[in-house]
Amino acid sequence: MLGKQPADPAKRSSLHGHWSSRMAFILAVTGSAVGLGNIWRFPYVVGENGGGAFVLVYLACVLVIGMPVMMSEILIGRRGRRNPIATMALLGAEEGNSSRWSIVGAIGVIAGILILSYYAVIGGWTLAYILKSGSGAFADAGADIVTGIRDDFLGSWTTVGLYHTIFMGLTIFVVARGVERGLEQAVRFMVPALLLLMIVLLGYSITTGYFGQGVSFLFTPDWSKLTWDTVLTAMGQAFFTLSIGMGAVMAYGAYLPEETSIPGAAAAVALSDTSIALLAGLVIFPIVFANGMDPAAGPGLVFITLPLAFGQMPGGVFFATIFFVLLTFAAWTSAISLMEPAVAWIMERLGRSRAQAAVMIGLLIWAVGFGTVLSFNVLADVTFWRGTIFDNLDHLTLNIMLPLGGLLIVGFAGWVMCRNSTADELGGAGNVYRLWRFLARVVAPIGILFVFLKAVGLLPDLS
Ligand code: TRP
Repeated sequence: MLGKQPADPAKRSSLHGHWSSRMAFILAVTGSAVGLGNIWRFPYVVGENGGGAFVLVYLACVLVIGMPVMMSEILIGRRGRRNPIATMALLGAEEGNSSRWSIVGAIGVIAGILILSYYAVIGGWTLAYILKSGSGAFADAGADIVTGIRDDFLGSWTTVGLYHTIFMGLTIFVVARGVERGLEQAVRFMVPALLLLMIVLLGYSITTGYFGQGVSFLFTPDWSKLTWDTVLTAMGQAFFTLSIGMGAVMAYGAYLPEETSIPGAAAAVALSDTSIALLAGLVIFPIVFANGMDPAAGPGLVFITLPLAFGQMPGGVFFATIFFVLLTFAAWTSAISLMEPAVAWIMERLGRSRAQAAVMIGLLIWAVGFGTVLSFNVLADVTFWRGTIFDNLDHLTLNIMLPLGGLLIVGFAGWVMCRNSTADELGGAGNVYRLWRFLARVVAPIGILFVFLKAVGLLPDLS
């Protein structure tokens, strides 16, 4: 298969077709980036980590680490035009280094499987809330009622497991049919609609009278709340929300036409992704304070605050239903990208059809997902290291595997690939290229390493 490809990387073509346009690629990566990470995870980790200082560190990570890593992933993907494992092996050899770089792709495939195993459980949770909202369960409900609904839901492992199963089924279905079809249309509609509904919610949140308190929680840094562990969490969140560090964007980059500008695409994605996360924070914290709730309530935070807000709004049943439909869609387009590297690898490596590969990988992820399903009920008291099975998966993948993958990816693009190769992909040697190269060679790798070492206590404090 590899032998048939031309030697000039610029003429290599993907084995699975191409995006129909530059916009299609941006939409697909935005669809991957915008998801539960923005609306479910961002607010709750901000709440757990004390607000403003965490948010500023997160924004800095997106800018100086996230952006160069994302650009590196896309350029590597486009140059290799294969699944992430094969691409890293090919480019490693082509750049005169080693084909062992395939290990980066392998870490990514495993990270994708582990992340999706719990992502699908939360995706199922949003699915269940479409029905609850539609049935009017949240209409005029107070904090105790919405909290009760959440506890009942999470308490039943069969219910959580059922919705997890449905969500995985939907994901397998789309991946089996191929990434291009349908995805573009879905994202083109979903992201603007989600943005619009968030703005409606923002309107509500302003009327609570606690908007100022929410804004100051989100943006006024209290540096005493910051530990190196918190910084690591902020960095992990930056990787997670941008879908980088595991080859998902690399897999999508493999289908990117030659003429598309990579820096432009990366900037567009990062901007829309960050705006949606900040908007979610602006919506949720005023509601938290208006109802005297705890910002550090954990993974249930959005599933309590938003139903509460909708319950008190005119037209709330309608808006709540639409909102959870959109959130499920957003989670769905992200889930697809978490599966794509593993599926592309099985197809190319084992010569399976896309449908077969999707079912094989999908069933594996579905089964692993029960570790998370049970973390909220039957096994809630079984805790070790970071907490429940879910807490451990979350920490291992987001705070360790993604930054490690990102470090290797950016290091590869910055140090192993020759200048000509990267300049070729990033459109010449202008200022943008120079800035990327500085961030990719120096700032991002040192930043990631430093935060890692600090968080595990391997670097002593200077003072
Ligand atoms: N970025 C998505 C979100 O915020 C999740 C996601 C999709 C992801 N694909 C990924 C995270 C790849 C890490 C790597 O919901």
